[in-house]
Amino acid sequence: MADLVPQRMALEFDTVAGWTRGAVAELGPDHALPAACRGSASPAGLDWLVEACGLGPGTRLADVGGGTGGPAAWARRRVGADPVVVDPMPGACRTAAALFGLPTLVGAGDAVPLGDGSFPVCWCLGVLCTVEDKAAVLAELHRVLCPGGSLGLLVFVADTERPAGSPEENRFPSARGLRRLLHDTGFAITDEASLTAFPPSPRDWQDCTARVEAVLDRDHGDDPRHAAAREQSDRIGRLIGDGVVAGLLVHALSR
Ligand SMILES: C[S@@+](CC[C@H](N)C(=O)[O-])C[C@H]1O[C@@H](n2cnc3c(N)ncnc32)[C@H](O)[C@@H]1O
Repeated sequence: MADLVPQRMALEFDTVAGWTRGAVAELGPDHALPAACRGSASPAGLDWLVEACGLGPGTRLADVGGGTGGPAAWARRRVGADPVVVDPMPGACRTAAALFGLPTLVGAGDAVPLGDGSFPVCWCLGVLCTVEDKAAVLAELHRVLCPGGSLGLLVFVADTERPAGSPEENRFPSARGLRRLLHDTGFAITDEASLTAFPPSPRDWQDCTARVEAVLDRDHGDDPRHAAAREQSDRIGRLIGDGVVAGLLVHALSR
């Protein structure tokens, strides 16, 4: 199943997911959420999505490309939503199950293993810029959503598809191109917010993330897979820091 996404990405999203599980086991369960929100919004950004999508107690949420389950676990903790994590990386799914007891399904965004019209809310956070055929993923999300259902997105956008210094497999849509794609795949945007409009993660959250990174460095610093994964995330971090790439939160309704 690891061939559903390119090899280099599998390093970051599969191998590192397994290592992260080990680090949280050592550091304690309060490290799970910060460690498992990989490149996703800050807690304040996730709260924006929770509210925009009208999540509440028992609302079923399909988090497609949900990774190690941090955002889904956040939605459950904040409002009692009922999430399932779908991700092509078996290691990410195993980590989401182990860290949070979340139900998981191994599957890619262009072939989501969920029924037609089966969920009132879908999330897809930090995923679209990693997939080639963005329209195929959006069409699948539209298929899985109930009519009138809510889509919550975090999309990293840029003026050019591959700005200099981009991670190998990333293809960034423009904000305009994303709006057009959403329209063409059957969605009506109701709200948008820039990630920069939200406060950064709280200090204790950042400290937990740093401690997890330190354990990964200590235990896997000599492993070339660690260096490759770190290089990928450093690159995207630099592009965001330089303002070349920006995180856009979007809420859209299925038409
Ligand atoms: C930057 S991570 C974001 C993870 C999670 N959504 C979060 O915000 O913490 C991107 C995720 O997209 C997943 N992914 C990569 N290619 C995918 C595809 N074709 N369909 C669905 N998910 C994919 C990766 O396995 C990874 O878990």
